[in-house]
Amino acid sequence: MVLFADRMANIGSENAFKVGSDIAIAQSQGRDVIRLNLGEPDFDTPEFICKTACDNLMAGNTHYCPPAGIIPLREALANQISETRGVTIDPETIVVTPGAKPPICYSLLTYINPGDEVIYPSPGFPIYESWATFSGAKPVPLHLKESKGFSFSADELGQLITPKTKLIIINSPSNPTGGVLSSDDILSIAKVINEKSNENVRIYSDEVYENILFDGSEHHSIISAPGMQEKTILVSGHSKSYAMTGWRLGFAVLPSKLEANVFTNLNINIFSCTPPFSQAAGVEAYTNPQSAEIVSKMVKNFEERRNYAVPALNAIEGVTCANPKGAFYVFPNIGGICDTLGVFNHYNSLPADVARKTSPSKLFQMFLIYHHGVATMDRQSFGAIGAKDMHFLRLSTATDLNSIKKGIERIDRASKDKKGFSEFILKGEHLY
Ligand SMILES: Cc1ncc(COP(=O)(O)O)c(C=O)c1O
Repeated sequence: MVLFADRMANIGSENAFKVGSDIAIAQSQGRDVIRLNLGEPDFDTPEFICKTACDNLMAGNTHYCPPAGIIPLREALANQISETRGVTIDPETIVVTPGAKPPICYSLLTYINPGDEVIYPSPGFPIYESWATFSGAKPVPLHLKESKGFSFSADELGQLITPKTKLIIINSPSNPTGGVLSSDDILSIAKVINEKSNENVRIYSDEVYENILFDGSEHHSIISAPGMQEKTILVSGHSKSYAMTGWRLGFAVLPSKLEANVFTNLNINIFSCTPPFSQAAGVEAYTNPQSAEIVSKMVKNFEERRNYAVPALNAIEGVTCANPKGAFYVFPNIGGICDTLGVFNHYNSLPADVARKTSPSKLFQMFLIYHHGVATMDRQSFGAIGAKDMHFLRLSTATDLNSIKKGIERIDRASKDKKGFSEFILKGEHLY
């Protein structure tokens, strides 16, 4: 009898969390490491939100609560989504979850039979590919091209839709690219979905970065397009907009009460309910008029950092970096650096079992942590299927400007350290 069920071989992960152990090892070896790996605002949760949670705890709001979420939060969310998306949302179609991550797993469990096809962006949030593979779906990556600002056309999506397509995942503004879909993009994507897919297809619209937009651009949701509300699972949450990553608060708006009941039952089966004092604080975030100003200050900071990071990265020989329109990441192409440093040659000479576990951008990522003291994420951490020849890094700009400056200086230095890179490979440690 084997210890682990066979299915456990098929689950992926989110390396942004796992890279913490590499940082700890590098630090224990005496290296100072700048962290540009994690996607969370470096600001604390606004005080008035924390105060609401404290007051609730002290008042004894510490018990189980309704599994779909407390009514005041579902009502506040329904009002906000109805107003901002121009649709009417019934609070009973909303299910609150601990963070915006669980609805990904729930959607795969709820809608997918083995062999059904799931289209998702690549590069994209890694949990899409992880759950697609784990659920027995056929993963169908929609490759976003640097040359198109990491956007995609309705045509490109249309070519991937088949009679077996069951779930189409979109994410705007996007992690890791910062790409943003315009209202015209959304309309043409909705049109192709309506034309080419079955009525039971579902669109998973991940909108967790909905408030983090630059250059005056606006957020557009596919739920607002004709014929889409009946098919869309709209997901968002508090983590990114209100600097509430540790509170674990997110939600899904389902196309029907029937589907919301299925998600609620998954909540019951897994954790019963999202903590009530977190939810009370979540109501405060959505309803207190102070929130708008605080969010806009954070976004201004993210935009200033992007304005610094993109030209600074483009000034490094061997790097091209597109200008993100939202979220808090930059996603430079490092193919030129890999060429100059001989990363491709070294990668090609690795033993097959090592090569399988790493990639050129992973090798450079690890070289950066262990030899130059800067933590980033590699391309394959955002979807590995079909991404073998893509060489990018993700840097989080949810980090103070000074650290971003130092981090990019270190990447520049590493990009010229051919000798150091050869030594790193020869040593053979931390290659993946
Ligand atoms: C695109 C995307 N979706 C979902 C999540 C999960 O958010 P949460 O921390 O609220 O679970 C993240 C977090 O990084 C994300 O980037």
